[in-house]
Amino acid sequence: MAKKSKGPFKPETRLVTAGRDTQGQHGFVNPAVYHASTVLYPTAEDQIAHRARYQYGRRGTPTTEAMENALRELEGEQCAGVALLPSGLAAIATALMSVAGSGDHILVTDSVYRPTRTFCDSVFKRMGVETTYYDPLIGKDIARLFKPNTRAVFVEAPGSQSFEMQDIPAIAEVAHTKKAVVLMDNTWATPLYFRAFEKGVDLSIQAGTKYIGGHSDVMFGTVSANAATATALKTTVGNMGICVGPDDVYLALRGFRTMGVRLARHYESGLQIARWLEKRPEVLRVMHPALESDPGHAIWKRDFTGACGLFSIVLKPAPDKAVHAFMNELALFGMGFSWGGFESLVIAFDCAEYRTATKWSPGGPTLRFHIGLEDTGDLIADLERGFAALAAAK
Ligand SMILES: Cc1ncc(COP(=O)(O)O)c(C=O)c1O
Repeated sequence: MAKKSKGPFKPETRLVTAGRDTQGQHGFVNPAVYHASTVLYPTAEDQIAHRARYQYGRRGTPTTEAMENALRELEGEQCAGVALLPSGLAAIATALMSVAGSGDHILVTDSVYRPTRTFCDSVFKRMGVETTYYDPLIGKDIARLFKPNTRAVFVEAPGSQSFEMQDIPAIAEVAHTKKAVVLMDNTWATPLYFRAFEKGVDLSIQAGTKYIGGHSDVMFGTVSANAATATALKTTVGNMGICVGPDDVYLALRGFRTMGVRLARHYESGLQIARWLEKRPEVLRVMHPALESDPGHAIWKRDFTGACGLFSIVLKPAPDKAVHAFMNELALFGMGFSWGGFESLVIAFDCAEYRTATKWSPGGPTLRFHIGLEDTGDLIADLERGFAALAAAK
């Protein structure tokens, strides 16, 4: 039998206890994986009245419910509803669809994850939603970009790849005065390190593919809504018929239970390597808001309680072949998109071609690192070999 909750518990404890119904699972610690579409009603009366705890596979099973309840408890009291989606991008698109439609205008940070931008410039444009991109450092000056039909502001902090910090409480205050809602891509910090609802966010999105899953083996996304947005979110997800396969929900819930220890290690190792890189003569700048040297550090310190393992660097000008030699030499850093898994990664990137509200000119080649759970001494030794290869290829 499940023991009685003696909470309120800290978020790290909630990761372990939230959404558990041991009694309902015959005493087993984890929920069963329900592969299900049809739900049978015992009588005609029940069927006609839709009288059953579960109605249909798409609309929820004990497996999806366990994940939803767990995330809702982690988010805290202001969370009024949670939706599970088949990817982070699906979560972003669905959240946006739940708050804006034909004839509306939205404001989106210029530092947003690029496929979010593509969604706005393609599907939303076709639907008649106008998007204005804004400088992520705009703060309360965002007020001047509002139009009478502005329905939503989409924030992401730190910025995708470029790591600008945003003053989310200031932006949210303006948005709410203008009767618009605030959506946030909170994948980097997760609800453990950024309490989105307490900072004025109405819809908080996570690409669960990253730290919730944590093992690079699941595509998954979540949207958490406050009381102002929960009904619209639920209706949109329900009407569009979106649901996640039960095995992926199970993998996500399994990852969720250990996210606290993994994230703490990613944070510690990431910062250690960022500090090491900052001292390297080949490096012009490290973009990591937890570093005192970062322009966004004051905001990070005020609003966040931690960081993950993802950050970027600007190298001093070097020919492409030297940068490629550096990347090719690394044995412990795979070259792949995505992040949040147990392994270290590196990618080269360039934001210049798609930014519209700000100019991207970092002063040298840019690389994004994800610091995994490996020993940091081994990672540093690997990076040293990379820098030797870079010097040799110049
Ligand atoms: C910040 C951010 N948000 C959203 C996504 C999209 O997640 P998914 O790949 O699960 O669609 C990503 C993926 O890289 C991301 O980096």
